[in-house]
Amino acid sequence: MLSAPPVELTAAGVTYPNGVRGLGSVELTVRAGEILGVIGESGAGKSTLLNLLTGETTATAGAVSVLGQDVAALDRAALRVLRREIGVVFQGVHLLANRTVRQNVAAPLTLRPRRERDTAAVDEVLRFVGLDHRADAFPAQLSGGQRQRVGIARALVTRPRLLLCDEPTSALDAATAGEVLDLIRDARDRFGATVLIVTHDLDVVRAVCDRVALFDGGALADVLPVRRTGRLEPETYLDRARRELGA
Ligand SMILES: Nc1ncnc2c1ncn2[C@@H]1O[C@H](COP(=O)(O)OP(=O)(O)OP(=O)(O)O)[C@@H](O)[C@H]1O
Ligand SMILES: [Mg+2]
Repeated sequence: MLSAPPVELTAAGVTYPNGVRGLGSVELTVRAGEILGVIGESGAGKSTLLNLLTGETTATAGAVSVLGQDVAALDRAALRVLRREIGVVFQGVHLLANRTVRQNVAAPLTLRPRRERDTAAVDEVLRFVGLDHRADAFPAQLSGGQRQRVGIARALVTRPRLLLCDEPTSALDAATAGEVLDLIRDARDRFGATVLIVTHDLDVVRAVCDRVALFDGGALADVLPVRRTGRLEPETYLDRARRELGA
């Protein structure tokens, strides 16, 4: 039997309690193992889409299926189980300031029964994001890009089948953003995760996305295949600055 797509929206819509339409009637199928870019102007409904997938926001119309389950039909316990399969990386990660890098990354595991906690996974994922040597540092002692990598490590430590990223590279320079995107792509290649990346940066789409969904005023305007470049920048940040900004 063919398994269900990781994400399927059928005429899905969200009207917020104040009457604002977050999303219209969206039809979207995300393929297993793909990296889907999600773009659109501010207010287009991109974050609303991600919140629908985690069950944070409930569809007021249509149906949302995530990892083969109808999200609206899940009770709180079932939703909690589903959320363990979903990793989220948000714009400007929120790390616990009084916890070390290792403790921050391990946090999603501490929500699990003790027998299911896998401390080796914490070390592995810290190595994966290149921060094993900073495991005992506190967030304030890291650069913004390093903090973002801790956020990615935290999202990956549970080996999510679905990875949702909202502006994962905003506020990072191109080289650091490139590293973060490499990590996201590796997460797909090595762990088989399906990935959605909300971004305002077309270079990000070109670098890693297989397809891109264009949202406009709460509607899905288009889904396009992407001719990928496989990298964020053809030249270094400083070379590009010299070329573009120099007299
Ligand atoms: N909790 C909420 N209550 C009421 N309206 C909301 C809520 N969250 C979002 N909206 C509205 O829904 C619409 C879509 O918002 P959303 O956050 O999905 O946009 P976005 O595409 O993520 O924008 P941005 O690029 O600025 O993050 C906007 O008009 C927004 O004001
Ligand atoms: Mg948003």
